[in-house]
Amino acid sequence: MTADLAILYAEHLVVLQTRTAVALERAGLDHLVVPSGTLHYQAFDDRDYPYAVNPQFKAWLPLTRNPGSWLVFTPGSRPKVIYLQPHDYWHVVPEAPGGAWVEHFDVVVIRTAEEALSYLPADRARCAILGEAQSALADVVPNNPPAVVRYLDYHRAFKTPYEIEMMRIATQSGVRGHRAAEAAFRAGASEFDIHFAYCIAARQDALDLPYNNIVALNTHGAVLHYMLLDRAPPGHIRSFLIDAGASHAGYACDITRTYSYDPGDEFQSLIDAVDTAQRAMCTQVRAGMDYRQLHLDAHLALASVLKDFGVLKVSPESAVATGVSGTFFPHGIGHGIGLQVHEVAGFAASDTGGTLPKPEGHPYLRLTRELQPGMVVTIEPGIYFIDMLLEELRKGEHASAVDWPRVDALRPFGGIRIEDDVVCTHADPQNLTREGFAALG
Ligand code: GLY
Ligand code: MN
Ligand code: MN
Repeated sequence: MTADLAILYAEHLVVLQTRTAVALERAGLDHLVVPSGTLHYQAFDDRDYPYAVNPQFKAWLPLTRNPGSWLVFTPGSRPKVIYLQPHDYWHVVPEAPGGAWVEHFDVVVIRTAEEALSYLPADRARCAILGEAQSALADVVPNNPPAVVRYLDYHRAFKTPYEIEMMRIATQSGVRGHRAAEAAFRAGASEFDIHFAYCIAARQDALDLPYNNIVALNTHGAVLHYMLLDRAPPGHIRSFLIDAGASHAGYACDITRTYSYDPGDEFQSLIDAVDTAQRAMCTQVRAGMDYRQLHLDAHLALASVLKDFGVLKVSPESAVATGVSGTFFPHGIGHGIGLQVHEVAGFAASDTGGTLPKPEGHPYLRLTRELQPGMVVTIEPGIYFIDMLLEELRKGEHASAVDWPRVDALRPFGGIRIEDDVVCTHADPQNLTREGFAALG
């Protein structure tokens, strides 16, 4: 960690301590106790699932591969890490505690998971224990007090400068992967080979990636969460949609790009039009903006693109009002991102509770809050040609809103999505993804 980053990290910890003090006070509790999590085993098998660290733990510590450890914080005292470093010759065990985080914590190294019990606060009833049920250790049982979880999750939306820096570094990996993936696509590679070209360039494998890569050629781009990887390329390569991220110190980036194989064809023009619209949407990431409005505006902008390309025969306003735009853009405009690719508390009305509803007819929107400085959100508009949704439209009362031969001409290309991660600031938004690509040159 550089000296500047070490300062940002120290400041980040101060923010967490301040938030935690308020959260505990609201719940009438004294201690925050956070298990890093444990390994889950597959049924009737001795194989474990990939370990996923408790996000409440990695919020404090850049430790993502340390099952069986604990964080303890009592306001007014130094935070403590109970650090499991087992004696085990079967596996690589965590290294001795090291790095810039160590100086900010009292660190106790334990050799067995059970040893943690004697270092956890003695009065278990005074603890907010945040974790999954499986992390229970004897009488230390996660209780996830709603007042504490709500407060911390609500405020987690506001990233500290340290967190934004972690996401910027994650983006550096992601954009390297995307460049390599595009090159592999242009060289005629299969989805399988493109995926590995991505992973090699990003220096990330399945344990690092914040979500499964979506690597989709041709019509596979119309499957929103396409995660199969065909081993052979299609006979006629037309288009490529890749939604792939990366992580750094527990923080995610989430990036989507779409390409046409023939840069001179109409599908590339449609991609360019979505790209122009997407850039305009990114400029809407401003303090005071209701993200629901951003989503609704996106429908209108994408319907305008479809009208310009002759897919829609009705006005963009009419396509949005009748729900026709939803056939082509059937997901939300994005979500908060940070410790999780889909960050928590997207619908939180306040830090004490309440829910901000989704706009009627838009069930897949994941974020309904007003944007404020520090929030990081994705902006990911798309236009897709999804057989199932098109058939529903064709059979319904709004079938005449669409030029079906135009739809049929574009169907073989699957779909388009362009996704950036954007920071809301006090002034202009900061687009981490575009900056990352630009820095690559
Ligand atoms: N990669 C999943 C998403 O874009 O939300
Ligand atoms: Mn996303
Ligand atoms: Mn994505």
